This record gives sequence, C-alpha cells and structure tokens, in this order.
Amino acid sequence: MIRRRDNFSLAGRNTFRMDVSCACWIEYDSPEDLMELDLGSLPQPVMHIGAGSNLLFTGDFPGTVLHSNIKYYQVVADAEEEVLLEVGAGVVFDDFCAWASDNELWGAENLSGIPGEVGAAAVQNIGAYGAEVKDILTQVKCFDLERRRIETLAGVQCGYGYRDSAFKHAPMKGRYIVMSVLFRLSKTPAPRLDYGPLKMTFADQAPAHPVQVRQAVLRIRDGKLPDPAVLGSAGSFFKNPVVSTATYERVVDVVRGSGAGEGSVPLPTASGLPGPNAVPHYNVGENQIKIPAAWLIEQCGLKGVRMGEAAVYERQPLVIVNATGTARPEDILALERKIIDSVRQCFGIELSPEVEHI
Ligand code: EPU
Repeated sequence: MIRRRDNFSLAGRNTFRMDVSCACWIEYDSPEDLMELDLGSLPQPVMHIGAGSNLLFTGDFPGTVLHSNIKYYQVVADAEEEVLLEVGAGVVFDDFCAWASDNELWGAENLSGIPGEVGAAAVQNIGAYGAEVKDILTQVKCFDLERRRIETLAGVQCGYGYRDSAFKHAPMKGRYIVMSVLFRLSKTPAPRLDYGPLKMTFADQAPAHPVQVRQAVLRIRDGKLPDPAVLGSAGSFFKNPVVSTATYERVVDVVRGSGAGEGSVPLPTASGLPGPNAVPHYNVGENQIKIPAAWLIEQCGLKGVRMGEAAVYERQPLVIVNATGTARPEDILALERKIIDSVRQCFGIELSPEVEHI
C-alpha cells in the first residue's frame, strides 16, 4: 500500500526533532508499491529517508520525502558456518541486530543500538565499536530509478568507506533506492573486541554468545550517547578528521603550549597536559592520522556549551543535541559554525559534518 500526505510535519520523522514540513510525504510497503510510483508527478525534488537519524533539515522541504516500510527477514542460505539473511530496507536496524544476536548469529552485535533503518545503514555504512556495516553486507538490492528495474549490487560495487558509499555521490546519488540488504552472519563465535571498553569488559572471559556483546555495547552507548527518544540529536555530528603527520605535530605543539601556527589562540583546557601522548590519535595510513573530533572540541572548551536551544552534549562533545526539544535548524547551524570555527582557530583543522544537511 502507498500512503500519501500533503504538507506533512517531519517533526516525528527526524531524531533531531526539527519541526519542519515537506510538501508531500509518501510511505510504501513493498517493492511493487515503489515501482508503481510515478516520481516525476510528485512535488520536486524527491528524497528518501530512513529513520531520519543522520540528517538535519535546515528548513521546510519543498518536495517529496519517501519512506520505506518494507519489513521482512528471509534466511536465503543456512550453511554449516554461516547464514545469509535478507532484510527489508524499512526494518529498524537495531531490531535486525537483536534478531541476529538472539539467533546466536555473530556479526551485527557491535552495531547494536545505532538509531536508523537497514536501508539507510547500507547507504551510510554505519559503524561503531570496531565494526562497520560493510563488514557483514554482501549485497544490496535496489530499485534503479533511471532504468526502472531492480538491480543487485555486490558489496564491493557500493564503494564503501568511513561513513560513506557510492550511494552518497554522483552518479549513484538519487538514482538507487535500497529495497533490501543481504547480510552474512557467522554461526561460529567471531567477537570483535578491539575497542578499548569492550576489550576490558571481556578481559577475563571471552564472550560465548553475541547477546553478551550486544548488552555490553548497549551499556557503553547508554553511558555516552543521548537516547534520541529522550534528547533529540543525530548521533555524531562531525566526522573524525584524518590529518597529515605535520598537522598532528602542530596539534601536539599547540597542546604543549608552544603556540604552533600564528594566530592560534590559547587553549582553555590544554595547559599542563603532559606532552605528545596527550593527543589521542590513530594511525590510519601512511602520513594519515585520525584525531578524535570529540577531543578537539573538548580542548576548545566547548563540552556542554549551550547556544540558543542547541548544546554540545556533555558526555560526548561530538554530538549536538536539541537541548530544549524546541530548537530550530538555525540554533543547530549556529552551534555547528561555532564548533567548526573554534577548532579551526585552535588547531587549524577543518571539521566536516557527518550529518547530512537538507
Ligand atoms: N573523547 C574526548 N572527550 C569526550 C569523549 C571522547 O576527548 O568527552 C575522545 C577520547 O580520546 C576518546 C575518543 O574521543 O578516546 C573517541 O571517543 P569515542 O570512543 O566515544 O568515539 P568517537 O570517535 O567520538 C565514533 C563514532 C560513533 C561511535 C563511536 C564508537 C564517528 C563520527 N563517530 O565516535 O558513531 O559510536 O566511535 O565506535 O565516527 C555516529 O556515527 O553517530 C556515532 C555515534
């Protein structure tokens, strides 16, 4: 079935809870419904959302917003060591994680608790605690709007990177609508415990069941990330920047207090930090160093800072929250600008948003 609503409020359809509207809202239940839609006849432009958990509506949307309600699980292959599971794009991603863990299938447990739906997860390559969707995704079934036919893309064709895929860029952007995802899940224990707090949790005894890991992940998330049902947000607002060794060394200098670049401002919280080890970082390639954006933001003294009705989340400064529940897009955008400007001034690093602006 296809349900259409005109001048529809999107307040309950984005986890930031921006009270904006779209000219037309369309929800469909099956691939056949999707193929039946004449998108050209609808208010333009047309965009597709999942749970709206990684986007910021910057104002009313003049066109059509599509939402998939394709919800199913189908075991496509059940072999000795693994299961291939096809999941509809409209399934809540965490429901899939729970399903997999409850059925003693490994692979999705580290991704527990991430807000969003399966279709968007395949577009965004969501990740957490040392795992990414691309690690368990083998195929994506899409509707190709150009050729008006169903296409099955192998994981390698989707161009996955850090919170990125070919679906987010031309020529694929806007052309494909994800209908389902094929996941490969392991029956043999395959815990991924590289992430510090998980390693610590299971230091004495390796987890024997994926539900144990799932529960640990949910606990860790609970302590750090706001529950979108309680406090509006879109998770991490910025990507963790990857910088050159020279830039990293400049950050170390700034923290040591030697000033680094001209015009760098004194850091409110950095004084007295003990040398290079104070800058958290991960080597991710030759001359490529990832520095946690949360740390950069905290060093700029912005943790917990409130501007208008938006705030930097106290427990994880990478997250911007709708502090009052009634923040407007302008509040979020103003705080975003302040964070980007402060980090640039302090460290000469340009943060880029992870959240899609619409
Ligand atoms: N940090 C601080 N201050 C804080 C919090 C963190 O300095 O208040 C520094 C610490 O050095 C810490 C580091 O930031 O070690 C990393 O923090 P965390 O482990 O919380 O992870 P993150 O890099 O900030 C990323 C993802 C999260 C994901 C976590 C866990 C991005 C943009 N974000 O955050 O994903 O849950 O790792 O794997 O990659 C999301 O994408 O919406 C999201 C929440």
